[in-house]
Amino acid sequence: MTLPLAELHLHIEGTLEADLLVTLARRNGVPLPSYDPTELTARYADFADLQAFLDVYYANLAVLRTEQDFHDLAAAYLARAAAAGVRRAEIFCDPQTHLRNGVPLEVMFGGLSAALAEAPVSADLIVCFLRDLGGDAAEDLLRQALPFREHFIGVGLDSAEVGYPPRLFRAAYEIAAAEGLHRVAHAGEEGGPEYVREALDELGVERIDHGNRALEDPDLVARLRDERVPLTVCPLSNVALKGVPRIEEHPLPRMLELDLVVTVNSDDPAYFGGGIDANVAALRTALGMTDDDLAVLAANSFEAAFIDDDDRASRL
Ligand code: ADE
Ligand code: ZN
Repeated sequence: MTLPLAELHLHIEGTLEADLLVTLARRNGVPLPSYDPTELTARYADFADLQAFLDVYYANLAVLRTEQDFHDLAAAYLARAAAAGVRRAEIFCDPQTHLRNGVPLEVMFGGLSAALAEAPVSADLIVCFLRDLGGDAAEDLLRQALPFREHFIGVGLDSAEVGYPPRLFRAAYEIAAAEGLHRVAHAGEEGGPEYVREALDELGVERIDHGNRALEDPDLVARLRDERVPLTVCPLSNVALKGVPRIEEHPLPRMLELDLVVTVNSDDPAYFGGGIDANVAALRTALGMTDDDLAVLAANSFEAAFIDDDDRASRL
């Protein structure tokens, strides 16, 4: 039986399955290292760390060229997510990657928004800043994106974490706040607890994406618990990117015991072994999580979602 929940940490670019990658590469005449989906997927089996994954992820995104491509990518994810029990999806996109590839914002927003409008589930976009491009680039992107304001509900911060602390993005987040946009940020995936603390203090984020390394700091844990700051945790991603050695050692059960508002999410399902259903299955089989535990995760996901109280009460 599928568990109805909200998926709050999902990069649309990370849903590009090898089959669609090959289709889009052929459609647009973009070279790939292989045209065999099985061979391509096999390359995802052993990432040394976040950067090793990001190198493959960014290279593959050269196949996304047209509105139709972005539409097909999002439509495929939304159909799979609906089948997996997702009722609400808050979806990250990385416009700076596509701009770098010569794809204008109107193409990305046009294609993604068309798919969201037809979706079988409630869905909205969150525009992410690539932290390794720096704070000025983030501000510049946000100003370019504001004419497309109706296409997104918030901003986030992703890509390589260590060496790019949240404070670099303060100005961009101030503009976002003034525009009434929601604010989230990846923090504590590879970076230490200070990245989580800074995301709260400098950026005013409403949720932390990942947040695993917050557990190293008891005062920060107490703050996250007391302020009910949601953590959007991604178990299979953490194992694939070596933040956690084995799924059996994943800290999610401990986070629940600590009364943190944790949610389960798939991050980049095409690369890390499956969608939210595969993550939930791993929590059951490898971590012994019960239906009651999973019901708490589902309730947390609706509490943490950027939806109104009627939708929250009815779970959409
Ligand atoms: N971009 C896509 N997936 C990411 C992740 N897990 N961490 C940071 N940036 C990302
Ligand atoms: Zn992520």
